[in-house]
Amino acid sequence: MNRPYQDQIVWIIGASSGIGYALARELSARGAILALSARRKDELEKLNDELGERHKVFVLDTADAATTQRTAQAIRAAFGRIDRIIFLAAAYAPMKIDALDIVATKGIVDINLTGAFNVVHAVLPILKTQQPRGQLALCGSVAGYIGLPNGQPYSATKAAIINLAESLHAECKDSIDIKLISPGFVRTALTDKNNFKMPAMIEPEQAATEIADGLLARGFEIHFPKSFTLFLKLLRLLPYRLSQFLTRKLN
Ligand SMILES: NC(=O)c1ccc[n+]([C@@H]2O[C@H](COP(=O)([O-])OP(=O)(O)OC[C@H]3O[C@@H](n4cnc5c(N)ncnc54)[C@H](OP(=O)(O)O)[C@@H]3O)[C@@H](O)[C@H]2O)c1
Repeated sequence: MNRPYQDQIVWIIGASSGIGYALARELSARGAILALSARRKDELEKLNDELGERHKVFVLDTADAATTQRTAQAIRAAFGRIDRIIFLAAAYAPMKIDALDIVATKGIVDINLTGAFNVVHAVLPILKTQQPRGQLALCGSVAGYIGLPNGQPYSATKAAIINLAESLHAECKDSIDIKLISPGFVRTALTDKNNFKMPAMIEPEQAATEIADGLLARGFEIHFPKSFTLFLKLLRLLPYRLSQFLTRKLN
């Protein structure tokens, strides 16, 4: 049987819950060797105990550039290489723009966006010294496709992640496999904070299968579930007059 993940070193950042947790289980079942990162050591160790000794925990706060760089080096030293890096770490809090919590806003930007830059900065030099170079996947969201009501500041960070992944693809595609992950609604601690009905909601295990398959495919973007993501892609293509008429109705 063809097992493309067999013995590949995969660094999952944001593995302690939700989509990252489910992805760790999925990739472990497909034969990958995992570096498991997030801030909550206990959750990561529980997961590591479940998945087995060949995987390792690397506790990390990606908002800290120096720690992120040290952790990337430590993973390379522990395993000899890093085949895939999957950046899933994020924070979310529902907020209205006219009632922004500016401290929480900074925290969300630090984790979701500065954290992504910290990871990119830490791993590109490592990937460039390897043969084959490997893969870097950043998790955006359909929330970054178009400005919808009630999603800030999270949505702005996700729009920035899409932009960052596009630029990485433009600059590095010849040597590094760059992927953008764009989930719709997935049932996790993140979406548990929402008090509105979320269309086309899927379970983290389904998201994990989509990501595990998508990372092996040729395309740049891994988006799911298609019934929802294609609708939002269409909305984004409309002239502002039309799209803004529709998005205002979501208030
Ligand atoms: N759920 C959805 O509907 C949905 C939709 C679109 C996109 N997404 C994206 O999917 C990704 C995973 O989200 P999720 O729904 O699975 O949420 P989640 O269950 O809240 O998971 C977020 C993960 O990020 C980690 N994390 C947060 N801050 C961190 C930091 N400073 N350093 C390192 N790790 C950090 C968390 O672990 P610790 O707290 O232990 O650090 C946790 O493992 C996120 O990028 C999210 O934006 C989710």
